[in-house]
Amino acid sequence: MKEITWNEAIELGSPYPYTLITTVDRDGKPNIMGISWWTITSWEPKLIAVSIGHPRHTHECIEHCKEFVLCFPSEEQKEGAWICGTKSGKEMDKFKETGFKPVASKVVSPPIIEGSTIAYECKVVNKLETGDHTLYIGEVVAIHGSPEKEKHLFSVHYRKLVSLDFKGNANFEL
Ligand SMILES: Cc1cc2nc3c(=O)[nH]c(=O)nc-3n(C[C@H](O)[C@H](O)[C@H](O)COP(=O)(O)O)c2cc1C
Repeated sequence: MKEITWNEAIELGSPYPYTLITTVDRDGKPNIMGISWWTITSWEPKLIAVSIGHPRHTHECIEHCKEFVLCFPSEEQKEGAWICGTKSGKEMDKFKETGFKPVASKVVSPPIIEGSTIAYECKVVNKLETGDHTLYIGEVVAIHGSPEKEKHLFSVHYRKLVSLDFKGNANFEL
């Protein structure tokens, strides 16, 4: 082994599961953001942590609505999923821009993205300031899935997305 930089380590540790988080603003308008820094933190209760940068529109939305939906985009959604990680909801309506269709969630206000492979509806139960991000802990209150969709998106550093199925086969590069 040799000493490497933060950027080299992030590249080497790739790919990371790439998901989309939906929130709503004060007027109830939904937004979508691409997120790799998320993790399951507890089995019972079922808890998921998401790390959101302070300048993100999503940060403002989640501070207000205290709920989110973590959606796993399917392979067909790769172009729209990339837009959600590279453009801000401060500048555009990402549902319009991507053509993603919002579907009402069962429990929370932020919508599910139609066509996702999995969607976890979460209510924020805790948060921690961590450097330039806030870590929000969400309790899972409903789960939806499309078992027929096998392929999920993974990010390689912040450069590109790849799709992998559950057998580990890479399918494309974006
Ligand atoms: C591959 C990838 C992973 C990302 N992961 C995160 C993340 O974990 N947390 C975060 O705050 N931003 C992350 N981002 C950046 C946001 O998605 C991006 O800044 C987005 O434009 C913010 O949207 P918003 O302002 O509408 O919330 C990621 C971007 C990419 C391309």
